[in-house]
Amino acid sequence: MSAILRPDEGSPEPRRLVPLLLDWFVKDARDLPWRRALDPYAIWVSEVMLQQTQVKTVLPFWERWMRELPDIAAAAGAHPEQLHKLWEGLGYYTRVRNLQKAAQQIMQHHGGRFPESFDDILALPGIGRYTAGAISSIAFNRPTPIVDGNVVRVLTRLFGIGGDPGEKRISDRLWQIAETLVLDASRCSGRARACSHLNQSLMELGALVCTPQAPLCFSCPVKAYCAALQEDRVALLPNLPKRAKPTVLHFAAFAAEWDGKWLVRQRPSGGVNAHLWEFPNVEIPAGMDPASAATSALGFSPETLRPLCRISHAITRYRITLTVFACDTTQSPEAGFGQGLWLTGGELQALSFPSAHKKILKQLPESGSARFFET
Ligand code: ADE
Repeated sequence: MSAILRPDEGSPEPRRLVPLLLDWFVKDARDLPWRRALDPYAIWVSEVMLQQTQVKTVLPFWERWMRELPDIAAAAGAHPEQLHKLWEGLGYYTRVRNLQKAAQQIMQHHGGRFPESFDDILALPGIGRYTAGAISSIAFNRPTPIVDGNVVRVLTRLFGIGGDPGEKRISDRLWQIAETLVLDASRCSGRARACSHLNQSLMELGALVCTPQAPLCFSCPVKAYCAALQEDRVALLPNLPKRAKPTVLHFAAFAAEWDGKWLVRQRPSGGVNAHLWEFPNVEIPAGMDPASAATSALGFSPETLRPLCRISHAITRYRITLTVFACDTTQSPEAGFGQGLWLTGGELQALSFPSAHKKILKQLPESGSARFFET
């Protein structure tokens, strides 16, 4: 056991860790496009996209967003349809609506300049303690701490913290360690952008080296100080509560065609995937067959339905299967089917769909040529 770090018995000595983390970040961190950006707006957009989403997924979305909405004024004034289209496929769409609300507040209350004070950043919609800390450290090199899933993993292992990070006492301790580290970085002389690099080194170490499974301890820059490694507890930390079993849901969805147009509807505001478009669908109660569920809930006649595809996807704690039917309607489309619009394939391309419904859109049959597929 290292004499330097006995975190449960004394205070950590971040001074030893900080130069190693800073050197490692400069040498080994990924060259991500937002890391080259100095514009707080670009960094803010990246941080919001990176909430709950992996770097490799975010990359093309961030590039396209920055091309189409290059500054705060553009984001504040964009049409909601354009915003949702730019976010289509990233999920958690409340993020993009908050981003626009925040851009509008910056235009109104901060003269269009991204605020520098931590409290002003934290007051913006969609920005919590982590994101405010990340923006303030990365964009303005302020010593504001960050703790997210990656950082929890790095710090619990490094400092041998065995309690549940969801408990307030443990969480407070992690934030306090993160603060000590970044404050120490701010006092390192001769290091450019030390607060920014220190925080990003923690994120990056968690993403590349101190991974949940099969961590690469042999290439860790601070392995000599890692309590978990010395005590052979790496696989046991962080001590997270077991995840609840996912809830399985079945839906039937309908690609209803009439006169070369498809029936779609917009999801109501306030709920999941608000503002996005979807094909008519209904949850299938356990034991009920999808075609009968469709008939009773949406008024499609079973004889017009042809199985088109089955789509499986996972979102938060739900595992969802969507059985999709093609449906040729000959009766007047005004009759039944609930609310919606009949739109051509070209018109549908301009709308934003949740990922599962985007898959249906990509597979819309030429009339009569539907082939069943499963994802
Ligand atoms: N996750 C959250 N913020 C990040 C960043 N700036 N770079 C890489 N991964 C991140």
